[in-house]
Amino acid sequence: MSFADMDVDTIWMDGEFVDWEDAQIHVLSHALHYGTGVFEGIRCYDTEDGPAVFRFDEHLDRLYESAKPYNLDIQHTPEELKEATLELIRRQDMESCYIRPLSFFGYDSLGVSPKNCPTRTMVACWPWGTYLGDEALEKGVDVMVSSWRKHSSSQIPTNAKATGPYINSLLAGEEARSNGYVEAIVLNKEGNVAEGPGENIFMVKDGEIYTPGLAQSILDGITRKTAITLAREKGYTVHDEAVISRSQLYTADELFFTGTAAEVTPIKTVDDNEIGSGTRGPVTKDIQQTFFDLVEGRLDGYDEWFTYVDE
Ligand SMILES: Cc1ncc(COP(=O)(O)O)c(C=O)c1O
Repeated sequence: MSFADMDVDTIWMDGEFVDWEDAQIHVLSHALHYGTGVFEGIRCYDTEDGPAVFRFDEHLDRLYESAKPYNLDIQHTPEELKEATLELIRRQDMESCYIRPLSFFGYDSLGVSPKNCPTRTMVACWPWGTYLGDEALEKGVDVMVSSWRKHSSSQIPTNAKATGPYINSLLAGEEARSNGYVEAIVLNKEGNVAEGPGENIFMVKDGEIYTPGLAQSILDGITRKTAITLAREKGYTVHDEAVISRSQLYTADELFFTGTAAEVTPIKTVDDNEIGSGTRGPVTKDIQQTFFDLVEGRLDGYDEWFTYVDE
């Protein structure tokens, strides 16, 4: 859905709430030329106790950690960003939404070094439903292994959510879509499974759960961590430092993606090979249902993971 069709009117920028149309930057801003920004993707869910941001602190921690390797000094505290976001949601009367904080090097000069460029920060939020299509959560998605490899964390920090490296995600995702698939799986430089362009990946084999470890050049996904916690609490064995080969994908009993945008999405085929019975498998369904019970506020014991908008 285009922003033009959304009921949104306010953005927080560098400490001020501004009209949506006025949130502008100069075309010679450093980040536009060199991808020098760091960002987050966060969801606010309409829980039984009102709108609540899921794992807000962890997302903000990751934003500040992402900024570190780039010496990007975010000029606002996490508390300020948090308050600004909650106020944005309130001002726009949103019950659920996707939240996008971004910090980037702005306008001063265009050497590759951002030395004198100011750090700019914005937060916006907008309504966002299922990421990979309405049927995806139930029926699963068709994916292909991309011909593009994920950059290695020895080339670009992969645990930092920086804007520039997302052109790798774009290449992989667009290649998949132009070939009729919904999403891609990217292999790392070593040829093992890394993740999706905007998702982590999990494999189920003989009742146990496997997901590539952080050394496999993946983003340290917050939904990944959530799924690991939920799965272990349900009694599953989870191997969270797995090394998964391409060929293991084809013989998996089940595969699923996790991500703030994708939530928990089953994968039904890889390169036209049916995974399991070619539909959402029982373990995926169990984790997915538990995940939605959690984020929609129906599970007890996870209160510290929610920041209520109206508290
Ligand atoms: C490359 C990549 N991997 C994994 C994820 C999933 O991370 P999270 O669950 O924190 O949204 C994302 C989404 O931000 C991503 O862009």
